[in-house]
Formats: sequence, structure tokens, C-alpha cells
Amino acid sequence: MVTQIHATVERDARLSQGRWLRIPGPTVVHPNAVAAQTREMVPHRGPLMSAFMADLFPKLKRVHRTAAHVLVWPGSGSAGWEAAITNFLAPGDRVVATVGGSFGARWASIGEQFGLDVRRVEVEWGRAVTPDLFADVLSAAGDVRAVFITHNETSTGVTNPLKELAALARQAGALVLVDAVSSAGAIPLETDEWELDWVLSGSQKAWMCPPGLMIAAVSDRALRETDRSGYPRFFWDVRDMAKSADASATLTTPPLSLLFALDAALDAIDAEGIERVWSRHDRLGRFVRGALGDLGLALMAEDGYASASVTAFAPPEGSTASAFRDRIADRTGIEIAVGQGAYAETINRIGHMGWVEEPELAATIEACAGQLRA
Ligand SMILES: Cc1ncc(COP(=O)(O)O)c(C=O)c1O
Repeated sequence: MVTQIHATVERDARLSQGRWLRIPGPTVVHPNAVAAQTREMVPHRGPLMSAFMADLFPKLKRVHRTAAHVLVWPGSGSAGWEAAITNFLAPGDRVVATVGGSFGARWASIGEQFGLDVRRVEVEWGRAVTPDLFADVLSAAGDVRAVFITHNETSTGVTNPLKELAALARQAGALVLVDAVSSAGAIPLETDEWELDWVLSGSQKAWMCPPGLMIAAVSDRALRETDRSGYPRFFWDVRDMAKSADASATLTTPPLSLLFALDAALDAIDAEGIERVWSRHDRLGRFVRGALGDLGLALMAEDGYASASVTAFAPPEGSTASAFRDRIADRTGIEIAVGQGAYAETINRIGHMGWVEEPELAATIEACAGQLRA
């Protein structure tokens, strides 16, 4: 009964929002996370905060499915790309990177800016990097120090087969560095079982928090690699941050309000259960794709690899993506996103990660349908 009342209150809160944010991040912030941010500050070095962190870290580990460290910095997802490079690699190291959209492409090019020898596994936008393609590039590359895998390519709504790609990388002796910005907390991800070495994400996606935190799981194997890295660093030093975490602290002054929000959001995830969170996202992804298909709108992701957290699709014939988005926003207040890069005007995107259920997605689909009728 109590659960039912709670669910009703939550649903009403969600439905009563004036502008529905259906972009793939920032996402709608969970109400408990909104409330948690109003808490007063506490001394960031002292018993209160260490008790808080000692409670927060196990929650983060549970969701990442790891017994190793999960660290939190003030920052956004992109910082996790750079931290991976500067902590685990040295100039000249060879890496293999999955590139099937704008985020995979950006991580690969940042690697080059840092002097890495980047070998790309490049696929057309909308397609997944399959194990066969990945294995070909890995074996042609020879001695590969690490792989950069974009688990969920937010620009195309494609989820790469991370488990299989990670297994190939481990066979080749490479560190497995994963961009899980739009998958962590939404799509199955088993850090320890799949031997992932670095799993980075940002608080503004399925974590149901405001932007501002970079969250990363790091394996003990990767921590040992920090000895040979050739880059200077302080703020983003993973080993020092892990040592602080061992003392239930952070290296520098933490963004307390955001950590309070994250803690509340993790409690909501724990209450639902991470596996149920994953299946809810799977169900919502199918719902959105089915409904857009019924409207005759073409999906971008190839069958079998469509994302459970974001769906990319072509706007109606004769409309640009931005005109379609703007008309929907003007008439209904619902915000959907446009595409990126070369697809900026030929693709729209609907985010369905985090604090979301069918009713608001049905309203989004109805808003799209309304424009088709208009
Ligand atoms: C897959 C992916 N990687 C990286 C990023 C960059 O994250 P941020 O904008 O938080 O730096 C994003 C942002 O949307 C993303 O979707």
C-alpha cells in the first residue's frame, strides 16, 4: 500500500512537470535527489562526511557490479576520457577505439591529441561495432595497450556488444576502458564479470542527478598501470583518488550537494533493484521504438543493437530535425533532441533513461503523432 502511494505520488510529480525533458541528458532529476540538494553543507573532512562516503561507495559498487573502487569527481563525462588516457597510458601507446558516432569519434581524437597511436574500428552511424570487426582491427594492430569502447553511442541510439568486445580485448591483453555515459544505470553492465578496467559516466544521465559529477569504476589491474603512465596529473590522479576513497574521503573538496543528490538517487535505484532498472529501460526502449515504427518514422539503429536509453529516428518527410523538435516544444512543452554531426538535421532523438516510465513516453509519442497530423 505504502509502495503504491509512493508510486502514485512519484508519477503525479513526473506528469505535472511543465516542460518534459525527453532529451538524452540532462535527464529529469529524481525528486529525492532534488530535495537532497537543499541540505546544508557539512565539514568535508570529518566524521559526518566520512560516514556518508563510507555509505555511498558500496552503493556505487553495487550498481557498477564491482568489488573494486568506484570514484567520483566534480566534472562531466568527458573528463573520464581524459583521465583514462593520462592515468593508464603513455604517449605513443597503441589503442583500438570503437567509432560509430560522435562520442566514439571524440574519444579517439582526444587520444590522438595526447599522442596515442589510435586504431579506429569505424562503422557507419546507426550500426554497431561487431565482435568480428573489432577482432580484425585488434589483430591487425598487434601490440595494443588498451581499447576505448563506447558502450552506448548516444548520438545514434546504438548499444555496442560490450561483453563480447571486452572479452576480445582481454584476450589481446589490453586494458578495457569503457565510456558508459549513457548506459550506466540503464543497460546491463557487469564491471567485474566482464573484466572492465575503467567505466566512466556522468551524473546527468541514468543516474537521475543534475550534471556535474564524473563517476568511474576502476579495476586493480588499471590502478597498477598508473605506475608506467607518462602524463603529469594531479586533480585527475586515479591512484590518489582511490587512496582517498580507502579513507572514505575525496582528494579535493567534493561537490557536496551533488553527492547528496547521487546518494538519494542510488537509494532509489537500490529500492527498485538494478536488474529491474535494466529491464524497465529495456521495456521502455521497445515501447518507444514500437510506437515510432507505428507512426512510420524510420529508426536509426540497426536491429539487435538498439539502445534501451535513447532512440534516434528520422523526422517526418519534409521536416528538418530542428523544425520538428521546435514545433513539438512550442505546442506541448516536451523537449526532444536533434541529431549530431552530419545528422544534425536528419535525426531526432528521444531520451528514455533515468526517472522515466511509460506515461511520459506515451505523451512524447503523442506529441510526435500530433505533428504528423498537423
Ligand atoms: C556516450 C557519451 N560519451 C561522452 C559524453 C560527454 O559527456 P559530458 O557532456 O558529460 O562531458 C556524452 C554526453 O552526452 C555521451 O553521451
